[in-house]
Formats: sequence, C-alpha cells, structure tokens
Amino acid sequence: MKRDKTLTWTPPATLDFTGKNIVIVGGTGGIGRALAHQCAAKGAQVTVVGRTFRDEGTAGITPLLADLSKMKEAERVGQMLPAEELDALLFTTGIFADYVRQETADGLEKDMAISYLSRLVVLRSMGSRLNQTRPDNKRPRVFIMGYPGTGRQAVINDMNSEKNYARWTAHQNAVAGNEALVYDASKRYPNLDVFGLNPGFVQTDIRDEIFFKRGGILNKIGFWITAFMTRTPEDYAQRVLPLFVASELTGQSGKHFDKNGNAILPSNWINDANCKELIRVSEALISRAGVTV
Ligand SMILES: NC(=O)c1ccc[n+]([C@@H]2O[C@H](COP(=O)([O-])OP(=O)(O)OC[C@H]3O[C@@H](n4cnc5c(N)ncnc54)[C@H](OP(=O)(O)O)[C@@H]3O)[C@@H](O)[C@H]2O)c1
Repeated sequence: MKRDKTLTWTPPATLDFTGKNIVIVGGTGGIGRALAHQCAAKGAQVTVVGRTFRDEGTAGITPLLADLSKMKEAERVGQMLPAEELDALLFTTGIFADYVRQETADGLEKDMAISYLSRLVVLRSMGSRLNQTRPDNKRPRVFIMGYPGTGRQAVINDMNSEKNYARWTAHQNAVAGNEALVYDASKRYPNLDVFGLNPGFVQTDIRDEIFFKRGGILNKIGFWITAFMTRTPEDYAQRVLPLFVASELTGQSGKHFDKNGNAILPSNWINDANCKELIRVSEALISRAGVTV
C-alpha cells in the first residue's frame, strides 16, 4: 500500500455526533459494532444491520435484522433505510470464504455475495435517494470496508468460482469488487463522498475463519501469532472515527484510508474500463437472484 500524499487531514478537536444519523451495515458485530458503539457514545443515532442484535438496551443503537446472503433481502434493506436523512453509511458486512465452495440460496459464492454483492445491492437500492441534493448542500459519506490498495484483482471470467474454487481467490473477488464499488459509486453519485477503508488486521471473529479450521490447534496457534500484529476493533474504531466528520474529506470522493486513517492510493488496476467490467459482471450475477440494480 502506498500513501496518497495529496490528502492529509487533522482530527477535529471535538467529535460531537449529536443529531447525526448513521447506518452501519454489518454493525451487529466486529469492527462495525465497535464503530456503532463509538458513534452512539458521541450522540449519533445508529442503525445497525445484521442477523443478530447484540446491543439491546444500548442508547442510540437500533437494529434492522436481515440475512444479507440473499440479494432480495439486501434490496429490502436498501429500500427501508432512511436514505434522505443519513449523514453516513458504512459497510462492514463480511465473512471469509470456506475451504469448500459455499453457495447461497441465490446460487452465488457465499463470501462474494455477503461481503460484496449485498453491499452493491443495498447502495443501489438507496442510491438515488441518498444522492439527492440536500437543502444545506450536505454531502453524506459512504464508507466501504475491504482491503483496498493491496492490488487484489478479481477473476472476471469466473467471479462466482464455478469453474475453479480456491478460498483466497474467492475472497479476493470480494475484495476487488469492493474496491471497484468505491470507484463506481464515486462517479455514479456526485452528491456523495464515497471512501474505501482498509483496516489492516483487527481482532474479530473473521480472523477465526481465516486461519485453519475453527477451534483446532492450528487455528489457536494462528490466532496467537497474529495477536502481535493486530489491534482491537475499539482501537481501530477510535482511529478512524474522525473520518466521519473531518472537513478535509469533503469533495474527496473515491479516496481510500489505511488502518490509521491515512489516505492511501488505490490498487494499480483501478481504472474506468476495469471497474466498469467488474461491476457489469457483478450486476449480471445479482440479476440471477431476480434483483435488478
Ligand atoms: N478483521 C480484520 O482483520 C479485517 C481485515 C481486512 C478487512 N476486513 C474487512 O472488514 C469488514 C468487517 O470485518 P470484521 O472483522 O468486523 O468481521 P466480523 O467480526 O466477522 O463481523 C462481520 C459482520 O458481518 C455480519 N454478517 C456476516 N454474515 C452476514 C449475513 N449473512 N447477513 C447479514 N450480516 C452478516 C455480522 O453480523 P451478524 O453476526 O449479526 O450476522 C457482523 O456484523 C469485512 O468486510 C472484512 O472483510 C477485516
């Protein structure tokens, strides 16, 4: 990852989120949940989307339950969310591909469907409402979490891993899709500021899916070794929270940020032609589920 030296920003002296409406798709667990807690603690009203609500009774956090492995569910979520009133929308939903190819009820490779395609569907289902010019010219911020700036590319002619399956390749398809989604949405929605987030290694449940079989001895060793390289979701959340409000980011749509919130350059393959093709293939896969975006 290379630093983008054209964009620097300074955290505002105070972070007051009073009156802000924030949606975190994936805010029921892991990094999204840590961010939901910190946004709510600073006064925001936060809606978290996921399968399991773990914050009953926490002031400022409201659930919207959905299984985002299903594209129709993603469409429903996008249509239900109060796009016109949002200040920020963050996508952190994700899994890591299994050893054996897993398919959703829509016939889609599971990691790509949950970690990427569902986000495309949610965003498109609310995009025109979210993109409307606001009376105060406010530009809502959209954050898409993945692994941008690392050069990961998709297998365009087999995005659904039907010809060949390898778990790292399947995950890479989701990673590349999310980076292309930042590019596509930054062009498609001129009234939004769309950003990519690369959190580095964070101590969440998803790590349990990456290193060997869950619960096994190799898994425990992998977890222990990587503990030195990782940080807690709370620590990461604290570092990137100012990105929600830092004034220097206004009008900087399409930029990406690393684990410390520093601006980084996109992957080398990111350009108009490559992103258009990847998004076209993604839309075709989504249409298999009877959803048009
Ligand atoms: N942790 C890392 O080191 C790391 C590194 C690089 C990138 N990332 C990316 O950061 C993002 C967040 O990861 P994380 O570490 O916070 O993962 P996590 O702790 O496993 O949390 C994943 C979130 O996704 C939701 N989710 C999973 N399957 C779902 C489904 N079928 N329907 C609806 N929601 C579903 C979970 O909610 P429920 O449990 O309520 O379903 C949870 O809120 C992911 O995109 C990941 O790829 C993470």
